[in-house]
Amino acid sequence: MILRFVRFVQIYILHARNALRVSKKAPKILITGGLGFIFSHVTEHFVAKGWDVVVIDNLSEGSRPEIINGSFTHYHYHMADPKVVNIILKENPDYVIHASSVTDVDYSIREPYRTLRKNILSTLHVFEACRNLPNLKKLIYVSTDEVYGECDHRMSEDEIILPRNPYSCAKAAGSLIRISYENTYPSLKGKTAETRFCNVFGLRQDTTKIMSAIKKSIEEGGSIPLHQDGKGYREYIYIKNIPPAIDLILEKGLGVFNVTLNDGFTTQELIKKAEKVTGRKINTHPSHRSGMDMKYQMDSSRIRELGWKPPYSFEEGLKEYLLS
Ligand SMILES: NC(=O)c1ccc[n+]([C@@H]2O[C@H](COP(=O)([O-])OP(=O)(O)OC[C@H]3O[C@@H](n4cnc5c(N)ncnc54)[C@H](O)[C@@H]3O)[C@@H](O)[C@H]2O)c1
Repeated sequence: MILRFVRFVQIYILHARNALRVSKKAPKILITGGLGFIFSHVTEHFVAKGWDVVVIDNLSEGSRPEIINGSFTHYHYHMADPKVVNIILKENPDYVIHASSVTDVDYSIREPYRTLRKNILSTLHVFEACRNLPNLKKLIYVSTDEVYGECDHRMSEDEIILPRNPYSCAKAAGSLIRISYENTYPSLKGKTAETRFCNVFGLRQDTTKIMSAIKKSIEEGGSIPLHQDGKGYREYIYIKNIPPAIDLILEKGLGVFNVTLNDGFTTQELIKKAEKVTGRKINTHPSHRSGMDMKYQMDSSRIRELGWKPPYSFEEGLKEYLLS
């Protein structure tokens, strides 16, 4: 009788422990392109929070395989490969961020067919998997200010998108896929969001992008190509502001969020700022980008109303990046 009672207590304790373990289970997040410039920081952010992080990344342009250290699961797959649908279903994450993309605008101009095929198929695979995920809490599609096309005022999220190069066209196709899937499939209702970042800069960025080209030129000399006489105007944001924005949107954001602090400059002005901060001269040579939009600018009221408090100003980010 006593033995039976002891056995009963043991089983009870075992069940109670298991229940506790399950209830304390860390959230699982799956990030496509999680080894790239921006999302390598986001991957590390969620690892540091103790989340179960899964990355799908094919180690192509922009990737930083050196961050692979066993603290997250990595699948080396091309997102345009239909096998990724089963990988996402098998991993069964609570949260998904789709950030993988061809990101080089000049490449997209040389290879429009490849860019559009890769990026659109990749996005379709993510949405196909996500509409069948039983535990999904939020899916973020990562887009860009470039989807608005030429901006003669600060664009807000509900304005028409008018992409004008193959890269931004592929990103805009993803925006439409997001709207159509969320509207059509009840399993995705109220569960998707989209970020439209302005130009992000910081550690690990590929030198095809202007700010890291500036840093490279400062450190190693050499001249940087100046498209359209450096008159193109872009808004810039420091990388350390991105993980908190993603946290906020995962927690309570629905729909589209422009992500910018409205620190906008022409490339000529940006170079002058970098020269002032570093005390070094930056050499340039003329270059031409076909069909280039001259101005991107966005209204960021929506993410601010959600409670976004970016920790770094543009100047703080610029100093930290260029002087480190
Ligand atoms: N960098 C910016 O200023 C900026 C601005 C606005 C939006 N975005 C968007 O943010 C996201 C990240 O940009 P980034 O600059 O960090 O990019 P990045 O080029 O540095 O990294 C892209 C990552 O995605 C991976 N990848 C690309 N295609 C893939 C595929 N088909 N399958 C699997 N993995 C693939 C690459 O290996 C790489 O690790 C992109 O969606 C981009 O459009 C970036």
